[in-house]
Amino acid sequence: MASPPRIVVVGSANVDLTTFVDTFPRPGETVFADRFDLGFGGKGANQAVAARLCGAEVEMVARVGDDLFGPATREHLRTLGVGVAHVQQVPEVSSGVAPIFVDSSGQNRILVVPGANGHLRPDDVDLAEELIRGADALVLQLEIPLETVYHAIAVAKRHGVRCILNPAPGQPLDLAKVSAVDYFIPNETEAEVVAGRPVKTVADAEACGRALVAKGFAAVIVTLGEQGAVLASGEGVVRIEPFPVVAKDTSGAGDAFIGSLAVFLAEGRPEADALARASLFAALSTTEVGTQKAFASRQAFEDAWTRRASG
Ligand code: RIB
Repeated sequence: MASPPRIVVVGSANVDLTTFVDTFPRPGETVFADRFDLGFGGKGANQAVAARLCGAEVEMVARVGDDLFGPATREHLRTLGVGVAHVQQVPEVSSGVAPIFVDSSGQNRILVVPGANGHLRPDDVDLAEELIRGADALVLQLEIPLETVYHAIAVAKRHGVRCILNPAPGQPLDLAKVSAVDYFIPNETEAEVVAGRPVKTVADAEACGRALVAKGFAAVIVTLGEQGAVLASGEGVVRIEPFPVVAKDTSGAGDAFIGSLAVFLAEGRPEADALARASLFAALSTTEVGTQKAFASRQAFEDAWTRRASG
């Protein structure tokens, strides 16, 4: 049997505080919300957990705070089998937290308080260089300092390691420092920020993908929620069809897509097949509440993949 893919994630770990509500209070007003959920999140940790659940050996490079959430996050990742030797605690700083608001259609709005994530430095990446060198893929997002992201990309490229960057939350980037990644995977709003053009429709996303490829990216995948995604590369643009599901909570669906895609690609699957699988893994994650806790096991995913193939 082939050995499992090895994935390193350099990124954030948060605790998600999710409130289910359709009406937001006006200044000075108090309103009741429907429900609350507490769970482990953070784009980096979500992607690490998605990759782990898909069967990869995963190491996380991250920082947590010295509050209640820090040790709990480390222990949670460790229990799932994610390597935490490079998940360090920062004294006198809170862990990252994310107040999330989900409406009755399952759509989310997310605030992120970075806390300890803001203390992940290029030195932390250097300490994990041997792990990165031996990995099948390095996965990155933008909830940590940009200089750390830029440095991690340079380290991965120096060792010829596939690099996947999810530019979330959207922010202006030094394209010269990020365009070397193998896959650049924004959603609509992140694509708008980076490309400086509106992405309201599938056609906009295709044009945006083409524009980013013209700026030097090898492959750009713009994820479009229930409309699927588009892949732009030197070979043109292709649609990645969505899998229709009844969504309860879309939080973390992009992370499910990215973490699982890293594994499906590392397994040597053809790109189109890897993308279709990641699209289903992401769709399944929206059918349950929360982020990591909503991700499917590999077996549950394979069962759904087989059901989809048989009609
Ligand atoms: O992508 C979803 C994630 O964004 C949440 O888990 C939250 O922590 C924020 O990082």
